[in-house]
Amino acid sequence: MIDSRSASMMPKLEWDGLFSTGIDYFDNQHKVLFGFLNVLRSNTVGKRDKEVVNEVVDSLLTYTMTHFLEEEIILCRLEYPGFAEHKAEHDEFLVAVRDLYIRFKAGKGESRSIAAEIIMVVSEWLQGHILVKDKAYGEFLLQHKFTPDMLK
Ligand SMILES: [Fe+2]
Ligand SMILES: [Fe+2]
Repeated sequence: MIDSRSASMMPKLEWDGLFSTGIDYFDNQHKVLFGFLNVLRSNTVGKRDKEVVNEVVDSLLTYTMTHFLEEEIILCRLEYPGFAEHKAEHDEFLVAVRDLYIRFKAGKGESRSIAAEIIMVVSEWLQGHILVKDKAYGEFLLQHKFTPDMLK
């Protein structure tokens, strides 16, 4: 069972060059996501602030959706060959997290353990996704001379 202790045993997420897609704009968004997860993690162990946990869960998920959307907009616009597969992976993840979010907001069960589950699920998925799928679009976006202006 996932509880707040298992979340506390998780190493802090440190962004390093291994996660680099080569696109600063998206790397910075990934760093923000790691930051939210670390703040959440430090607030689900020991004396926690329920308000902060609530706010950070909301921010984490809102930011994740905006981030996905921006990746999808540019990959679609530039006709990235892996676009459909990439989007499908985002969508699948959102369905799984949505379920956790509903349970968290409904206050069913121990919200601290649901928050811990959110941290574990999102951390694991995010790292795996960045290392494989996000890194795969880096070269393509560099070839297309990506700039954040292209998202407008
Ligand atoms: Fe990403
Ligand atoms: Fe992605």
